[in-house]
Amino acid sequence: CGIVAYIGPKDATAFLLEGLQRLEYRGYDSAGVAVIGKPGTLKVCKTKGRVADLAAAVPARFKGTTGIGHTRWATHGVPSDANAHPHLDNAERIAVVHNGIIENADELRAKLTAEGAVFRSETDTEVLAHLVAAHVGEGVELEDAVRAALGHVVGTYGIAVVDADQPDRIVVARNGSPIVLGLGEKEMFVASDVAALVRYTRQVVHLEDGELATVRADGFRTLTEDARTVTRQPSTVDWEIDSYDTAGYEHFLLKEIHEQPASVERTLSGRLDERFATAHLGGLNLDARELREIRRVKILGCGSAYYAGEMGAQLIEELARIPAHSEPASEFRYRNPVIEADTLYVAVSQSGETYDTLAAVQEIKRKGGRVLGVVNTVGSAIARECDGGIYLHAGPEISVASTKAFTSTVIAFALLALHFGRIHDLSPADGRRIVAGLKALPDQIREILAGEDKIAELAAEYAKSEGMMFIGRVRGFPVAREGAQKLKEISYVHAEAYPASELKHGPLALINPDLPTVALVPDDELLDKNLTTLGEIKARAGRVLAIAHRAPDAKLADHAILVPRSEPELDPLLLNIPLQLLAYHAAVALKRDVDKPRNLAKSVTVE
Ligand code: G6P
Repeated sequence: CGIVAYIGPKDATAFLLEGLQRLEYRGYDSAGVAVIGKPGTLKVCKTKGRVADLAAAVPARFKGTTGIGHTRWATHGVPSDANAHPHLDNAERIAVVHNGIIENADELRAKLTAEGAVFRSETDTEVLAHLVAAHVGEGVELEDAVRAALGHVVGTYGIAVVDADQPDRIVVARNGSPIVLGLGEKEMFVASDVAALVRYTRQVVHLEDGELATVRADGFRTLTEDARTVTRQPSTVDWEIDSYDTAGYEHFLLKEIHEQPASVERTLSGRLDERFATAHLGGLNLDARELREIRRVKILGCGSAYYAGEMGAQLIEELARIPAHSEPASEFRYRNPVIEADTLYVAVSQSGETYDTLAAVQEIKRKGGRVLGVVNTVGSAIARECDGGIYLHAGPEISVASTKAFTSTVIAFALLALHFGRIHDLSPADGRRIVAGLKALPDQIREILAGEDKIAELAAEYAKSEGMMFIGRVRGFPVAREGAQKLKEISYVHAEAYPASELKHGPLALINPDLPTVALVPDDELLDKNLTTLGEIKARAGRVLAIAHRAPDAKLADHAILVPRSEPELDPLLLNIPLQLLAYHAAVALKRDVDKPRNLAKSVTVE
C-alpha cells in the first residue's frame, strides 16, 4: 500500500493524485483521497480500481490545501469502494490512511461498536478513525488524540491523520511501515516512499518505528509515542529523478532489465581488489577473524529475493567452501529455528521492508544471532535492523517483478563469497578469475540484451502454451526457479521449476507437446547430464527451448538462446537475463499489465 499527504498553500489534490500514481506499484486495487475544504468539512473521494479511476472520479470542486491519500493492496476485506482508504469516524471529522495490520482490530471494533461507533467497512484501519475521534474533543490536540489512540493498538502501521477542525496540521506515525516527510518551501509532503516526493523535494526525514510527527506547512515536530520530543535532521535523497520515469521504455520492467549493465557496475563499483584478488565490503562490520569463525551461512528472503539467496548460497559454498543454505523468510519465522553463534545469517530484500523478512531478522536477533542485510533501499527497516550488510546501489526498482535488484543481489553474494573465500581457502588465481569474471559481466549483459528481438519472437510463440516447465541442474536450478517465477507472476502462464535431475522421478509424466520445457544448459561439467535429460524430454515429444553457451543438437532442442560464457560459478547470473526478457515479452504478447500484475504488490509489508 502507499500513503501520501500534503499541507501548504497549494491545492493538495494534484500532489496527492500524482504521488499516488508514483506509489501505485505498492498496491493497486483501490485508492482514495481526503482533503479539508472549509475548516470543519472533509471532502472524500475513494474508489475500487486504479489511481487513474480515482482521478476520473474526483469532482472538479474538490479543493483543499491539507489532504491525505492512499493506494491499497487488500488484506482485511475485498477491494471495494467502502474498503478503500481514507476511513472516517461517524462525525466525518477525522480521516485516516494506514499501511500495515492492526492485530487487535476485532476486539477494538467490538468495543467501539458497543460505545456507539457505526462501522462502514471491513477494514482493520477503520478502528483507528473511530479511536482518534473518541479522543479528540474541545481543545484536544490531534497529536495527543492520535497518541492516545495508538496506545490501544497492537500491530504495525504507517498512518496519516487529518482532523477537519484542525486544518493546519497532519499527524503521522510509524511502527513497522515507513513514513517519510518531505520538506518544501512553506509546504510539507508526506509519503510512505520517497518515490512520491522526489519531484517536489530532495530534503527528507525518515521517521523511526515508534515515532510520530505533527506536520504543518512551515515545519514539523517529531516525538516518541510517550511524548518525548526527538530531533531529526533531514537527509538528501540521492537517487536520480528519472529513475522514477519509464524514460521512453514501454514499461518500467523493460527499462529495469535494460538498466542492468549500469546497475551491475554500481554494485561492483569500488569493491573489487585486483591486487589481492578479493572484494572489499565496507559495511559488513565483521573482521577477518570473526568471519573465519563462521561455520555456516543461512540466507533468508521472500519471492525473488529467496531465489537470489539460493544463487548466493551456491556461490558461498563454491568459492568459500562454507555450507550455505537459503530459506524463505516467511517459513523460517514460523518455525522454531535453531539460532547458532557460528552461523552467519543474511537477510535479502530489495525494498528492505518485507514484513516476513523483517520478522525473521528480529527473531534471529532476539536469540542472539548475527545478521547481515543485502538490501537495495538505503535506511530501510531491514537495513537498520541488521548488524551490517551490503547495499546493492541498483537504484529504485518500480516494476513489481524484480530484475535489476535480483541481479545485483547475486552480484553482492559473489562479492561476499569472494571476500569470504580469500580468507578461507580460495587461491589467488581463482580469486583473480572471479574478479575478471565479475568485471566482464556488464558487457556480457549488453550482448544478451542486444539479442532481444529473437527472444521476443520466441516468447510470443511459447506464450501460447498451456504451461511451461523450467529445468536446471545444480547451479542452473535457482535460475530455473527464478525464470518460472518471473513468467508466472507477469504473464500468468503456469510455470513449474524442477531440478533437471528430478524430472525422471515424477514430472516427466507431464511432458507433452503443449508443455514446453525451458532448459538451462551451460557448457560446464554437467553438460552431458543435461543433454541426456533433453533426450528424455524429446523422446516424449516435448518441446525444448535451451538457454545455453552452445546450441545443442537440433534433435535435443527446438530452439536455443545463446549467452556468453562467464566463469562457471557466475554463469547463473547471465543465464537468468534471457529468462527476464522471455517473461516480459510473453506478458506483452498476452497483453498483461506488465508492471502491475494482478493480486501482487511490490513490497508486502504485512504478514
Ligand atoms: C513481493 C514481490 C516480489 C518480491 C518479494 C520480496 O512478494 O511481489 O516480487 O520478490 O516481495 O521483496 P523484497 O523487497 O523483500 O525483495
